[in-house]
Amino acid sequence: MNHLEIAQTMARLAGELIKSKMGSGFITEDKSSSFDVVTEVDKASELFIRNGILEQFPLHKFLGEEESFLNEKPLEEVLKGAAEEPYLWIVDPIDGTSNYVQGIPGFTVSIALACYGQLQLGVIYDPCADEMFWAEKGMGAFLNGRSIHVSPTNELGRSVVATGFPSNMEARRAVYEGLGRLIEKCRTIRSLGSAARHLAYVASGRLHAFWENGLNAWDIAAGVLIIQEAGGKVTDTKGNAYNLLTTNVVGSNGHLHEPVLHCL
Ligand code: IPD
Ligand code: CA
Ligand code: CA
Repeated sequence: MNHLEIAQTMARLAGELIKSKMGSGFITEDKSSSFDVVTEVDKASELFIRNGILEQFPLHKFLGEEESFLNEKPLEEVLKGAAEEPYLWIVDPIDGTSNYVQGIPGFTVSIALACYGQLQLGVIYDPCADEMFWAEKGMGAFLNGRSIHVSPTNELGRSVVATGFPSNMEARRAVYEGLGRLIEKCRTIRSLGSAARHLAYVASGRLHAFWENGLNAWDIAAGVLIIQEAGGKVTDTKGNAYNLLTTNVVGSNGHLHEPVLHCL
C-alpha cells in the first residue's frame, strides 16, 4: 500500500471501530479540565491507526493527539522538528469527542502526512455519513472519489461560516469576540463539533469559511491541505501563511478570506 492507501484504509477502519462502539458505555475521562474529555475509544483508535501505519512504514514518525501527552518532548518542539523529518504522520483519532460522548453523529478521523514540514496528504473520514475527504499535494481534493471545489460565493452576506468552541478559555473568548462581529455580517453561523469536518466542508463548498482559535496540528493539518487542493485559502487569524504550529486558523473559499479576517 502507498501512503494515501494506508491513510484511507486506517481512517476507514478506525472510523468503523469508533462507530461500532458508539453508546457502548466506554470510559470517559477529563484531560486538562471538564471542558476537554477523552474516551477509551479515542485511545484505542489512535493505537490502531499508529500500529497500522508503523507496521507498513516502520521508519516514519507518528504524532497522535492522545499519545502527545505522553511524549517526552513538548509538542512545539516536535512540530518545529518536523522540518527535518522526511515523514511525520499527524493524527486525530476522533475529532469531535464531545459529539461522540453525547451520541451526536459528525465526529471524524483525521490523518495527515507532512514531509520536511510540508503537508503531502490529508484524509478526513466521517464514519456516520460514510464520507471520505482526501487530498494529495498537487493532485486536487476529493470526496468519496469525486473531485471537490470550494464555493464561488463572494458576498459575506450570503455566506455560511463555521466555528468551534475550544476548551482553552482564552481561545474561547477570542472565538466569542469574532463571533460577535461575524454574526452581523454573514447569513448564518454553524458549529458542528469537529474542526476537521468544518475544514472538509469548506473544501467541498458546503461552508464558505471556518475559523477557530486554540487548535492543534492534529485538528487541522489534513483539512488545511484538502482546502488548499480544493482551491481555497488557509492562514492564521492575522493573515499569516499556515504552518504546522498554527493554532488560530481561518480556512475559506478564498473570496471571503479577507472579509472574514477583517471581522476577527
Ligand atoms: C475538538 C473539535 C472541536 C473544536 C475543539 C477541538 P477533539 O477536537 O475539533 O470541534 O471546537 O476546539 O479540540 O478534542 O474532539 O479532538
Ligand atoms: Ca481534535
Ligand atoms: Ca481528538
